This record gives sequence, structure tokens and C-alpha cells, in this order.
Amino acid sequence: MLGYAVPANCPRGTNIAAQTTHHQSDTTCTNSKGPEEVKMSSLAQFGTNHIAKGIGRLTTHVLERGSGSYVYTTEGKKLLDFTMGIGVTNLGHCHPKVTKAAQDQVGKLVHGQVNIAFQEPQLRLIEKLLPIMPDKSLDTFFFWNSGSEAVEASVKLARQATGRQNIIVMQGSYHGRTMGTMAMTRSKTVYSAGFHPLIPGVYASPFPYTHQFHNGNAQDCSDNAIKELEIMLLTQTAPKDTAAIIIETVLGEGGYVPPPPDFLKRVREICDKHGILLILDEVQSGFGRTGKMFAVEHYGVRPDVMVMAKGIANGFPISGIVSRKELMDLQPPGSMGGTYAGNAVACAAGLAVLDAFKEEKVLDNVAARSKQLFDCLHGLQKSEKTGHLIGDVRGLGLMVALEFGGGSKGDNIGGKIGSRVQNKCVEKGMLVLTTSIYDTLRFIPNLLISEEEMSEACEIITESVEEVAREG
Ligand SMILES: Cc1ncc(COP(=O)(O)O)c(C=O)c1O
Repeated sequence: MLGYAVPANCPRGTNIAAQTTHHQSDTTCTNSKGPEEVKMSSLAQFGTNHIAKGIGRLTTHVLERGSGSYVYTTEGKKLLDFTMGIGVTNLGHCHPKVTKAAQDQVGKLVHGQVNIAFQEPQLRLIEKLLPIMPDKSLDTFFFWNSGSEAVEASVKLARQATGRQNIIVMQGSYHGRTMGTMAMTRSKTVYSAGFHPLIPGVYASPFPYTHQFHNGNAQDCSDNAIKELEIMLLTQTAPKDTAAIIIETVLGEGGYVPPPPDFLKRVREICDKHGILLILDEVQSGFGRTGKMFAVEHYGVRPDVMVMAKGIANGFPISGIVSRKELMDLQPPGSMGGTYAGNAVACAAGLAVLDAFKEEKVLDNVAARSKQLFDCLHGLQKSEKTGHLIGDVRGLGLMVALEFGGGSKGDNIGGKIGSRVQNKCVEKGMLVLTTSIYDTLRFIPNLLISEEEMSEACEIITESVEEVAREG
């Protein structure tokens, strides 16, 4: 039994009021039009009392609805969303075509369990995904629910296909919080502290993070990361024990860091030399975020396995891996699958997403709005008022980071400028995320954001950074 009673749907115009005592909470419908803060704070308090504390959150606003680049709270606040649910609702909140496709599918078939039969939306989704894969060899799919599950599926595939056990990940990488992916996530210890022992056989090699380690010299940084990887294969995990190297094509949670131009090609060569599989995690960088359908297209490299999630269905939970048929066919029937894997409604939403990409020229908009955002951030970097704070402006498309300090501007581990700017942005009506152990803000807008909305964002970011600079 739940410790509280949730009323049947509250009639329009009434509010849910939460009362929490030490032992239990009750929610009731009220006609109270009471002060806005009270309504909001009672729901937020209810969430604080009953949702696992292990979930950290940016704000205690209670979201009621979303449309395009904005979300609206139960207290009537309109917020410009530069998080898009951490790179998920890439085509904007409640994109009308995606919503319609999901609504239609709900009336036809909600759950077509993959171990029971094929279901049409999933097959149609594959049909539409095939021509946009970054390499023709990527022709066989497995769908899952979350990014972490898909990462784990890629590791299962690599182990089975190579008969080897070990996995090399990159320092600073984020691959998830499940029991398996916790061991692979190396962006912050908070994701694994207190949960050990983690799965064995995972080794971390440096990601070429040019600003932090080589003060802007991308070639030195790339050379060094490749050397470290080669040393790892000589000293820690022998090639014959190494199933895969998994890399976020653009480091996400670790700081929105694109690798130097030659890095992935050189990793590919190492993989080819030793029969190691190259897995690219495009969970955050995929589906147009970087200005190409997949970030790997910027680098011209063939992955053996690619991991997808987030943007694939604009908010519906679905993830997947794609690889070569000859590798995928090594898995015995029954070894893969799961109750909700590749849900039919999510697949229908995914189909609408891919249609929208074509019909609405999404990538053209990303290019134009990316330039606008970079102009604004470079302006802050050059400005006398704020330039001293800013260490690096980087990213691809609309996967963009602003790092405060670092490099020649000094140590910025655990720095607080980013979170101070973030707080000011939220006060001014814009949601934005920090990221990484270094002092970094990341910008993840709607890929269909308008010029005016981007200008609004640039104004808020500029004002916020200037205020923090003034306050010292
Ligand atoms: C690159 C990358 N991989 C994997 C994951 C894990 O995805 P999920 O949170 O859906 O499990 C994330 C989530 O942010 C991610 O950014």
C-alpha cells in the first residue's frame, strides 16, 4: 500500500494540495486559488518528500507543460529551456508531428513485445534509419529503453563477438548509472561512490581534452591520448583480452569536448590492428545535435557499433544499438530483448522525428543558430568586462560549452562561476546546465529554436555572466 492517497483526477480548476506528516502524505483536490507560491511549494515539497533524494535537480519548479523552446511551470512561469531534458526533446517540447504520431499509434498498438512478434512501427523506423547511418555496414538494430541499457547491450555484443572481456573507456566519459555502466562512467565519482564493487575489466584512458591538458594544442593532445592508449594495451589490458574501446564521439557530461580532428581515425587504426571493436556512444551527440545526424560524420570514421538514445524519439523512451549483421547474428536468440524494448509508440514517434528532420530542414537551422550562439559566446570571451573569466568556448552545432578558467587561466576544478551564472539564468527565466568536474556550462537548445529565441538566450547569458563578473 502507498503511504498516501492520490485522488482520482482533480477536476479542472482545482489544485492538488499535498499534506505531509511524519508518517504519511495525503493529496486532495481543493478549490483554493491561494497565492501562487503556496500551490507550487506544496507540490514541490510533496516531490521532495516522496522522490528519491539520490536524484539531484536543477530547480524545484514543477513543470506542467512544454511547447517548442519553452516549458511552463504550475505557478505560471515560462522558462526558456536550454537543457531540452538533457538533449532529448531535440525538436522542441511537444513537437506537433511527433505528438500526433504518438497519439495515432496509441489508438492502434501500444505494446508489441519484441520477443512475441515483429511490430510495424519498429520495422518502419529501421527502414528510415538505414539510409542515415554513418556507415553502410551498420545495418542491424537492437532497440532498448534507456541509453545505459543500450550501452550495456553494446558491451554484451562486443564480448560475444570477440570472445574477449575487457572494455576501454575514456577518462571523463558518461555512459550511465546502471550496475554495468557505472563502471564505465568516469566523469564524476558521485555516480559510483558507495556502490562498489563495480564490474571488473573496465580500463580508462585519457580523452584528448585540449583545453585542460594541452592549452589549445589539439595535435599534442591527440598524440598524447593515442600514446596513452597504446601504453594501456601494452601494460594493463592486452589486445587479446580487449573486446572494445567505447568513446562518446563528443564528450558529453565530461564537458562537451569534441576530440581533435584525427583522434577517432587513429583509434580506429588501433582497433583494426588488434581486432578490437570501436563502439561510439552517440546517446547525447546523435540526431542532429552537432549539426550532422551523428557526430561521427564530422570525423569520417566507421564505428563497429553505434549507441543511440535521447533524440531518437524526442522524449519517448527508446534507445538502441546498430552494428553489422555478421556481428549481431552471433547472438543466440533469446539472449537479447526485454519487456518494453523498442516500444511501438516510441518507434512511431521516432518515425515522425525523422520526417521532421527532412521536412523542416532541421540541420540548416542548427547551422544558423549555432553561429549565432558562438558569436555571442566569443563576444563574451573578447569582452573587457567578462573575458578574464572565460577559458574556452567550444562545441559542434548546438552542443556547446562555455568553460570558466582552466588552461592558461588556471585551475578550475570544482569552480563555481558556472553555477553562479546558471543561478542567474534561472532567475531570469532560462534553464541551463553545468557539467563536468571543471567549471563549465553546457547549452543544449531546441534544434528548431528561432532566431528571436536564440537572441533572448544570448541576452540572458550575457547579462548573467556580466553580473557575475561585476560581483567578482
Ligand atoms: C553519452 C551518454 N551515454 C549514455 C547515457 C545514459 O543514458 P540514460 O540516462 O538514458 O540511461 C547518457 C545520458 O546522459 C549519455 O549522455
